[in-house]
Amino acid sequence: MKAFLREALEAVEAAGLRRALHPLTSPQGREIVIDGAKVLNFCSNDYLALAGDPRLAEAAAGAAQGYGFGAGAARLVCGNAGEHEALERELAQVKHTEAALLFNCGYMANTGIIPSLVGRGDAIFADKLNHASLVDGAVLSRADFYRYPHGRMDVLEAMLKKTGDVRRKLIVTDTVFSMDGDVAPLAELVVLARKYEAWLMVDEAHAFGVLGPTGGGLVEATGTGDRVAVQMGTLSKAAGSYGAYVAGSRDLRDFLINTARSFIYTTGLPPAVSAASRMALKLMAHEPWRRTVLLENARKMRTALQGAGFDTLASSTPIIPVMVGDACRAKDISCKLLLRGIFAAAIRPPTVPVATARLRITVTAAHTDADIARCVEALKDVS
Ligand SMILES: Cc1ncc(COP(=O)(O)O)c(C=O)c1O
Repeated sequence: MKAFLREALEAVEAAGLRRALHPLTSPQGREIVIDGAKVLNFCSNDYLALAGDPRLAEAAAGAAQGYGFGAGAARLVCGNAGEHEALERELAQVKHTEAALLFNCGYMANTGIIPSLVGRGDAIFADKLNHASLVDGAVLSRADFYRYPHGRMDVLEAMLKKTGDVRRKLIVTDTVFSMDGDVAPLAELVVLARKYEAWLMVDEAHAFGVLGPTGGGLVEATGTGDRVAVQMGTLSKAAGSYGAYVAGSRDLRDFLINTARSFIYTTGLPPAVSAASRMALKLMAHEPWRRTVLLENARKMRTALQGAGFDTLASSTPIIPVMVGDACRAKDISCKLLLRGIFAAAIRPPTVPVATARLRITVTAAHTDADIARCVEALKDVS
């Protein structure tokens, strides 16, 4: 095994694809201390700048004092804390659905929901750029798996037509694509789903708290809630907390409680984590300026980057790719930025397709105009 591990690591190193962990010794925020150096942070998903908000920590601490820390068991045993059910009711309100169910994280939600809904002999249709957790959920389900090129509704329709007599069809898509920052054509997807009698599942991980009049996501923004059967999202990004949810009908919730293996066979979240998420939902509702500033910052960053000649694909959200192409070059630019006090992660294959390595710049509600200008100037210097 020793030789196998060494050779594998040398191969990823030679391809410029080796990944490594960098120790963080500060709270999350616009400035963080990483590898011992203070840097401006342009790579978190903490869109509303809530992860480091002391009110979330206080809510968690209060709940931990009241309930203790660990959940003790799976929720179906004795780990079903009141905090979890209260959060689920509040999530259903934010998502305008009958019900919601918590999962321990987004990865577990997607790998639990999909195999519950479809199996052998069924078909899944997925955008090629969907998140890895949706891909893994599809693989686990053993259903036939059809992937259409990014955003290509004509190809999706052809696939749906071809598989007309399949028992169950599930279309699955990110609503905001995590590495490209563009949005799914949801209005077209709901039409195709209805026309071909397919179910539609969306992953709102990067849209929840960001899009829609109250931060409910792209489904809220497009008014398509009654035609999207399964709305999944996470609490680990804009909500600044941890955990994930699925929102939909009461029957969907009950069905998943009875079938989703990543819900059934795992310990419940610590109740304190749900308490922090509840505080985040409260702040999302009472401090709408966070979303306004976030979207304005995203617009400013995108405009400045495009003005400087960078290719930002079709981004229209706080996720703004700066395309580089070559993985080694992307890593090199990211390292040079770090030396100038700017943290922008290089995203390389297999997270993105070969030859599309990029810097994934994200802005939050905490960035200032000066921060944005500093980032763009540094990028111009080192590119
Ligand atoms: C689109 C998408 N779905 C799901 C996940 C997984 O969510 P979590 O970090 O809560 O496991 C992520 C993020 O990592 C994501 O970007």
